[in-house]
Amino acid sequence: MDKERCHVRIGVVGLGYVGLVTAAVLASRGNSVTGVDVDVSRIQMLKRGKSPIFEPQLDERIGNARSNIEFSEDYSKLSDCEVIFLCVPTPNTDNRIDLRYVMAAAAEIKEYNASSDLVIKSTVLPGTARKVSELTGMNVVSNPEFTREGSAVHDTEKPDRIVIGGKSVERVREIWEFTGSPIIVTTNENAELIKYASNAFLAVKISFINQIADLCEKIPGTDVNVVAEGMGLDRRIGREFLRAGLGYGGSCFPKDTVAMSSFAKEKGLDLSIVNSAIQYNDNRVPFLVKRIEENLDTLNGKRVCVLGLSFKDNTGDLRESRSLMIIENLKRRGAVVRAYDPVVHYIGDIDLYDDLSKCISDSEIVITATEWTEFSKINPSLFRGKEVFDLRRILDPKEVKLTMGVGIGKN
Ligand code: UDX
Repeated sequence: MDKERCHVRIGVVGLGYVGLVTAAVLASRGNSVTGVDVDVSRIQMLKRGKSPIFEPQLDERIGNARSNIEFSEDYSKLSDCEVIFLCVPTPNTDNRIDLRYVMAAAAEIKEYNASSDLVIKSTVLPGTARKVSELTGMNVVSNPEFTREGSAVHDTEKPDRIVIGGKSVERVREIWEFTGSPIIVTTNENAELIKYASNAFLAVKISFINQIADLCEKIPGTDVNVVAEGMGLDRRIGREFLRAGLGYGGSCFPKDTVAMSSFAKEKGLDLSIVNSAIQYNDNRVPFLVKRIEENLDTLNGKRVCVLGLSFKDNTGDLRESRSLMIIENLKRRGAVVRAYDPVVHYIGDIDLYDDLSKCISDSEIVITATEWTEFSKINPSLFRGKEVFDLRRILDPKEVKLTMGVGIGKN
């Protein structure tokens, strides 16, 4: 097969952040792709050429692939696919993974096309591929995704590695060969666990650096960013995921760490390191709001501007957003909260400004809650006379007088 272009008839079930990006990237590589989702309004939007999510480069990939990508709510459209990627959500119910969408989608796929390879991209615990194989009798391949929202297209086209688990994986391997990335072929169970162990390790790394930030705040002359840089240059540690801040949010880390911990517990194992990272992260927002309050007489009645609502930059995704948790916490303490976000323009009961400068100038207190680069470029004069809490460390303390910056030990 031509390594650059690959012509496989591919189905993708579940067109969220993972599925839609997978579909768009694989179609833009010359495969013919059928994307199926049970959400009819989502399918209608896609048919009109509109992406239901904000993700850099995604519209461009969908646009380039228009002739070989189709969207439908009808599973029967998958009948002639050779490979079908399962990308449905795996939420937690009572802190345990809930496989209802995986199982329901797998059963539907089996109805229309039991001879294709069924590739599980959704994050699922070890043993799930085996269950799906027992349910469907299909060749089930595990191919977890490691994409970050905000750079999902890049991460899909140029991943650090590709993990493929299963007995008969050749077609799936060929589909991803264009990336030129290292490919690990292993058992389904290893592939499933690699995903959880990776996410849990990254979560531990974030909680670790946040705790070092707490320590820095007790030592005049320290700055966690410098400490992280110095640590990260050691290749055994690595520079990434050492940004101190508000803790991790999003649709993956909070859910996956908890699911993994319950899974281990059921096997009689206390995953104490992961559990500490979870507990630390859960306390992070209340801890920081308390620190803010300690720096002021009171938050009651204070006009507070929160910069950023999404769980991180370059996305409009609000799931498990630390920013929303901060806002709720501030409101409970009587603060008058308003917010600005480059992508999110409407959300329930939060007073949202369209104008960043006005949001700041109308407030006495400014809090950075998402690491959008737009915020690091704000004219420092706008912050004059304000109490500034840089919880994401995106402002230059030499230019902006900070009341508090996470991980800065004040002299
Ligand atoms: C994550 C994983 O990176 C990805 O491999 C997996 O497939 C899905 O989950 P994502 O949730 O998109 O991706 O976001 P990510 O960039 O990993 O950030 C997760 C959270 O950690 C964010 O809230 C982010 O702000 C926070 N974070 C990340 C830090 O606080 N510090 C860091 O150094 C890095």
